[in-house]
Amino acid sequence: MPDHVSARAKAVRPFVVMDVVARAKELEAQGRDVVRMDVGDPDLPTPDVITRAAEAAMESGDTGYTQSMGLPDLRDAVSARFASKYGVTVSRDDIVVTQGTSPAMLLLFGSLLDPGDEVILSDPCYPAYPNYVAFLGGVPVRVRARASDGFRMRIEEIEAAITPRTRCIMINSPSNPMGTVLPPEDLRAIAALAEKHGLYVASDEIYHGLDFTGTDHTILEYTDRAFVLNGFSKLYAMTGWRLGYLVAPRDFVRPAEAIQQNFFLCANHFVQVAGTAALLKADPDVARMRAIYDERRRYLVPALRGIGLTVEVEPTAAFYVFADAKEWGSDSLALTYRLIDEAGVAAAPGVDFGPEGEGFLRFSYVTGIERLREGVSRLQSWSAARL
Ligand SMILES: Cc1ncc(COP(=O)(O)O)c(C=O)c1O
Repeated sequence: MPDHVSARAKAVRPFVVMDVVARAKELEAQGRDVVRMDVGDPDLPTPDVITRAAEAAMESGDTGYTQSMGLPDLRDAVSARFASKYGVTVSRDDIVVTQGTSPAMLLLFGSLLDPGDEVILSDPCYPAYPNYVAFLGGVPVRVRARASDGFRMRIEEIEAAITPRTRCIMINSPSNPMGTVLPPEDLRAIAALAEKHGLYVASDEIYHGLDFTGTDHTILEYTDRAFVLNGFSKLYAMTGWRLGYLVAPRDFVRPAEAIQQNFFLCANHFVQVAGTAALLKADPDVARMRAIYDERRRYLVPALRGIGLTVEVEPTAAFYVFADAKEWGSDSLALTYRLIDEAGVAAAPGVDFGPEGEGFLRFSYVTGIERLREGVSRLQSWSAARL
C-alpha cells in the first residue's frame, strides 16, 4: 500500500543542504554558473598513494567480504594512529570498521539507545545526529552553543539538561558547521560530567587532522566512557569511497559488530586496503591539502567580513566558515535560495544545523581560491544591489 509511510521514516528531516545542491545542479544544467560553497565535499582528488593501493587490491582479488569488524591491518593502523598521535591505547578489538562515519552513527546509537533515551547535542550541530537519534526512538536534547560563547556549550547548561534518561553527550570538534575547536578544558569537563552521571561521550572526530592552528585531542585522552566516530572522507578527500570506523567501549563492541554483520556485512574490501595505505602513507598529502585549505580560509574569512557578514568566532579547522548573515535576511533557507538564484552562489542555510543556526550561512571552502574570489565578488554585487 503506497499510502502509509512509517512514523519513523517521517521523523527523519530532509538534509536541506542536499536540496540546495539539487537546486544548484538544476541551474547548472540550465547553463548557469554557480559558485559552489554548499556541501563539505573536498574538491582535491584522493591522493595517488591511496588510489594506487585500491587498484592493486582490486587486481590482486581483494574483492570479497572481509570480517565484519574490518581488516586486521586497517584496525592495527587505526590503533597505531591513536598511540602515535594522542598517546592513547586503543585495542584493535575495540574498533569496528564501517562504510563511513555515518553508518558508524547507526552502530553507536543503535547499540546505546532504548526508546525514550536522551542524547545531548549541541545546537548547532551536524544534522544527521538528531535524525539518527530520533530514528532509533531516542530523544535529541539540544544545548545551545552560542556564537558569543565561541560556539561552546556551557558546562552548567549541559549538566542542567541531564535527566535519568540521558545516555550520552555528543560532541564534534573540530565542528561542522562552525569550523571551531573545543579547548582541552571543555573536553576534560565534558568527560568529567559523563563520568559523574554515568553517561558516555560520543565524539565525532572526522575533522581531526584539519586543525590549522592547534593540536587535536581525542576524547579518549580524558575518559574511557567514550565512543569515537571517525572516517576517511574529509582528511583524505575520500567522501565517495565510504570508509570510517567506530571505537566503542568493550561492552558495546559485540552489539555494534552484530549490527554491522546483519545490516552491512562489511566495508568494501579494497577500500579498506586503501584506507590502510592512507593511514600508513598519506601524511605528506594530508599536510599539502591542509595548507591549501588554510590558504583559502585566510582569504575567505576576512573577505566575508569585508562584504558585511559577521564572523564572530574565528574558524580554525575543518573547511567551513559559519557567518551571521542576518543583515541580509533572518530566514536562512529563503536567503540561501535567493543567493543561488540571484547571485549564483550556493551556501548551506544555518537553520539546517539547528534553531541556533538560524540567520547564519555556512560557506565551505572546498573549491579553488579563484572560485572563492568569484563567489565573494558576486555576493558583494548582490548585497550592493539589494540596498
Ligand atoms: C561532522 C560530520 N560527521 C560525519 C559526516 C559524514 O561523514 P562520512 O562521509 O564519513 O559518512 C560529516 C559529513 O559532512 C560531518 O560533517
